[in-house]
Amino acid sequence: MQKSPVKDLLEWYAVEGRNLPWRESSDPYQIWISEVILQQTRVAQGLSYFQRFMERFPTVEDLAAASQDEVLKYWEGLGYYSRARNLHQAARTLITQFKGVFPPTWEELLGLKGIGPYTARAIGAFAFGNEVGVIDGNVFRVVSRYTGDFSPIDLGSTRKKFQILVDKWAAEGDPADYNQAMMDLGATVCLPRNPNCAACPVQEHCVAHQKSIQHSLPVKQNKVSRSVKYFNYYLEFDPKQQIKVRQRPETGIWAGLWEIPNEEVEAEAWNEKAFSQRENLLGEMKHVLTHLDLMIRVYRADSPLPEGIGAGKFISMDKISIFAFSRAVLKIFDNYLPKNS
Ligand code: ADE
Repeated sequence: MQKSPVKDLLEWYAVEGRNLPWRESSDPYQIWISEVILQQTRVAQGLSYFQRFMERFPTVEDLAAASQDEVLKYWEGLGYYSRARNLHQAARTLITQFKGVFPPTWEELLGLKGIGPYTARAIGAFAFGNEVGVIDGNVFRVVSRYTGDFSPIDLGSTRKKFQILVDKWAAEGDPADYNQAMMDLGATVCLPRNPNCAACPVQEHCVAHQKSIQHSLPVKQNKVSRSVKYFNYYLEFDPKQQIKVRQRPETGIWAGLWEIPNEEVEAEAWNEKAFSQRENLLGEMKHVLTHLDLMIRVYRADSPLPEGIGAGKFISMDKISIFAFSRAVLKIFDNYLPKNS
């Protein structure tokens, strides 16, 4: 049987672990918010979102009492906006059905909007000290290397096998520290491309290191297939130099966020327009989403846009910061709006 990494890992974590604000708390609310933020961004960026979110919504009551628009504003730029809407809805459920107190049972946690097995385990381990292992992408990499396991990590059977193992490890020490240590090892030492094995506390018993196969692990079976879509975006101003914006529908990508008028077109029409309207073309950018590249060209609309594309309202430029926009639109503003001098 392979040696457990837990003791060495915990000793290393006591010295090298990162000081992160959500680690100083066992408040399930703070842990929940931090985990949802960290599901979509790295710690360095997530930190400032977490701090701003906590300043504005320090308790689940504050979050439940806010408007959806305001919650989206605090999520602006993070992506996966359905997660912000789910947080908001779950906060309201916590107030109406649980008197604002997090339920400690697995079933009740999973019943809250947006809380899946990963988040429920993280809250369980970090807030309640449950003996469960939390597996994110970093931890998958650490486990597959430590055990030298080539099972594809995107298979349910691999997830189950790894889960049993990390649950066992979590029970060998303090479950909160153990899980944070695994995450830190994956984020700072057992890196995807250049793992720093020399600094690794569990190097001696790591199968991948012993066999020098760390660069081949983990294995993924189904590589994400990407597609490309083509869009024209329009900056339209009224005579008072107000800009046209509109709110996206309540479903689909960027639901409920604000945007400027735009249309999806075929690649050919996208290129023809760039030629025929070249004097209004402000520029081009690529916006990368998980499964999709958006190719975006931005035009100045020098006459009112036609009905279908042009529905919306004009707002003064100093009101832009009140509305929540996707990162793609923020990039357009950054690149193509006239700068205040
Ligand atoms: N990524 C996901 N959860 C995390 C946590 N609690 N600490 C650091 N990185 C994380």
